[in-house]
This record gives sequence, structure tokens and C-alpha cells, in this order.
Amino acid sequence: MAVKILWYLTAPDGPVPWEPEGRWETGFDHLQELAAAIDKLGYYGALLATGFDHDDVLAVAAATFPVTQRMKFLAAIHPGLMTPAKLARIALTIDKFSGGRLLFNAVNGRDTILPSLGVHFEHDERYEYSAEYWQAFQASYLGQQQAYQGKYIHQAARPPLPDPRRSGYASGALAPTQKNGLELWGAGTSSAGVAHSVELLDVYLSFADTPQRLGDKFRRVGAEAAKLGRKLRFGTRLQIIVRETEEEAWDYAQWLVDRTSVDYAIQSIQRQLPPGETLETYRSPNPQVQRNLDAIRAGRLPSARDYEIHPNLWTGPALHGFNVLAPLSGTTLVGSAENVAARIREFEAQGTSAFILSGWPLIEEAHRVADLLFPLLDLDHGFDVPLLNSGRYRGDHAARAKAA
Ligand SMILES: Cc1cc2nc3c(=O)[nH]c(=O)nc-3n(C[C@H](O)[C@H](O)[C@H](O)COP(=O)(O)O)c2cc1C
Repeated sequence: MAVKILWYLTAPDGPVPWEPEGRWETGFDHLQELAAAIDKLGYYGALLATGFDHDDVLAVAAATFPVTQRMKFLAAIHPGLMTPAKLARIALTIDKFSGGRLLFNAVNGRDTILPSLGVHFEHDERYEYSAEYWQAFQASYLGQQQAYQGKYIHQAARPPLPDPRRSGYASGALAPTQKNGLELWGAGTSSAGVAHSVELLDVYLSFADTPQRLGDKFRRVGAEAAKLGRKLRFGTRLQIIVRETEEEAWDYAQWLVDRTSVDYAIQSIQRQLPPGETLETYRSPNPQVQRNLDAIRAGRLPSARDYEIHPNLWTGPALHGFNVLAPLSGTTLVGSAENVAARIREFEAQGTSAFILSGWPLIEEAHRVADLLFPLLDLDHGFDVPLLNSGRYRGDHAARAKAA
């Protein structure tokens, strides 16, 4: 089975973007350059993430697809920030102009963000609302005429389009490029999140863990989907440091640790602590985590190798968190190209078919991953790769070598 490798198309950037000194001030030119690189290098697509102060993902997709030809734009969308019909209109337009290259990552968190965006549902009700939102969205995207009446969403039937022969009105009706509806990716680990995901999604995403534990999670979610007669694909999110040798990769990981503050580790730990615990009170059942915690409490960051939780799987510092307590959004693949490829195959054997990766700086590391890792993997690029070498040359060469 071929795997899809996606990259990351979201500011900020820089060699150590989680620290002010390691972060670049980047703008529109940089995002366009990044999109063009992702496209040219043959990534399946890129994730456009949404957060407190991110550029709007639909604006970024619309502004960057003109410099690309093949990559898909996986844009993270919080349901409820605009009507489903309006979102469908924007999606149909971007799809029409880009040749159907828009995908949505249906995002249902987070409590810290949503109220300030005007969305006030409690956690589980958010999923109930979201189910209606995406049904109404797909109905609009597919051009269905009938009304949608839900508990939260009321969408009247669409008026019939005027007959262009009589009215002289040239219909600009938007037709869906993705005939079964716009492809939805998304996540949700809570029971409400899983129940929602298995009804709605095409691709279920989870932050990475060890291959076995991630596989166990995907099998649990897959079993829930099977009860509804549905089959999902599975994807994960990882940071990546890939180099020609193990030594180079781990030296770079150490270089990152050396430029990371203890404060950053403490803030990340505080976000991950179970409710009611503090940095002072918490004790981890995992001795490796406890040793790291003790060092951080004493004001010192352990060295890079101390955060390796599985061969080539690292919970060291990353833009998306320094997951000292347990692997989460910052989990990183670290190693030589051969070993990282082996780990990707290990994840694949546990059911993962899509990998959303990022390494910093984004353009430089996108090149490195494509140069070192892509040749070692069986990839689904999402487009046909032209065969530069038909095999005839190799045959001729072998024949010549034999004759010589
Ligand atoms: C790969 C991946 C990407 C995500 N991207 C975003 C994002 O861009 N913005 C955001 O607010 N949440 C993002 N999330 C978080 C989830 O959508 C969601 O908040 C969380 O999984 C809710 O889970 P729960 O049902 O367990 O509470 C992402 C999660 C994953 C696994």
C-alpha cells in the first residue's frame, strides 16, 4: 500500500519557531514559496492549521493554489464560523479554480478558542452541532435543492434557477468537482469525538504515539466505523528530523534542545497535566518521564536522547508542544533516512496511510525529506509520476556491461 505524505503550510517558520529568537517574521511571499516547494517536490498535499492568531486557512488556500498545480490543500475548519451554505460556496469556488484540490480537516476543539470565535457549545454538544453542520454543508456542496431541517441548522430549499433561455440570465451554477462530496478529514479522541468521526469522516487523524498504540487506537475507531458499515482511512501528524546518518539527526535534535528554554518545557507540561495536578504535585508512572520531569523541575533540560520513547520516535521540543509527559502533537521522527523510512513502514503496518509532517525551517526541511526519504518509500503522490527512466536504459547499460 502506498502512503500519502503531506507537509505543513502554516506560519510561523524559522529554525526554532517555538522560541522568539528562532522564529522568522514571514509573510505572503514566504507562504507562496513554501506552497510552490511542497507542490514541486511531490507531496500529496499540505495541512493548513487554524488557531488563535493564524492566517485564515481559506484565504491562504485561495492565495497560494495559483502557484501550485497538483498538491491538495487540507484546510482546518471550525464548524459554525459561517453558514454551511456559504462555506460550500467558497469550497466549490476554490475547487472549481484549483481542479478539486481542497480537502477539509473538520476541527471540533478547542474550549480555549471557540467562545472567542462566537461558538458556545459544550464539548459533546459541539459534536452534535458539527454533525448537522457537515450534513448541511455537503448538501449545499452537492447542489441539493431540498431544505435541511436540523435541531440547530435550518436551511431553506434552494429556489429553482431561472431558465437561462427565457430570462437571459446566464447561470453561473457551481458544480461539485468532488462528486461524492468534499473529502473530510478530522480527529476526535473522546467518545463523542469518535462517535462523530466514524459517522462523518473519510480520513480519521490522530496525533502520533508508538506505532503499536496508534494502531490500537485506529483499530478501535475502525471497529466503531464497521458497526455503521463504514471504512475509514487513517492518518497521523508528526514532526520530522531526517538526515543521512543517525548521528547527524540526533546531533540536530540536540541542537534544538540547546536552543529551547526550560520555560517552554514547563508551559507545555502544564498544558498536558491531568486535571487537578500541578508541576510540583505530578508523579509519572513512567520512570523515563519522571526523570525528565525531575530535571526540568530542577531547571535543566535533559539531553535529546532522553526523550526517545521508541526507536526514532521523540518527544523533544517542537512548535506544537514539548510533550515531556506523553506523545502528542509535537511527536517527532528522528533518524537516518533508512531508519525513518522503516518507522514509517512500521506505522503503515499498523494502519496509517497518511502522514502529515513538518520540520523547520519548512522549505529547507521539505526539500530534505523529499530528497532523502521519498526515494525509500512507496508513495501515493495524488498524481501520476512521469516515468523518466523506462528501464530500457538500464537494460542497454547492462547489455553493454556484459558485452564489454
Ligand atoms: C492532525 C490533527 C490536526 C489538528 N489540527 C487542528 C487545528 O488546526 N486547529 C485546532 O483547533 N485543532 C486541531 N486539532 C485538534 C482536534 O481537531 C480536536 O480539537 C481534538 O481532536 C478534539 O478531540 P476530543 O474529541 O478528544 O476532545 C487537530 C488534531 C489532529 C489530530
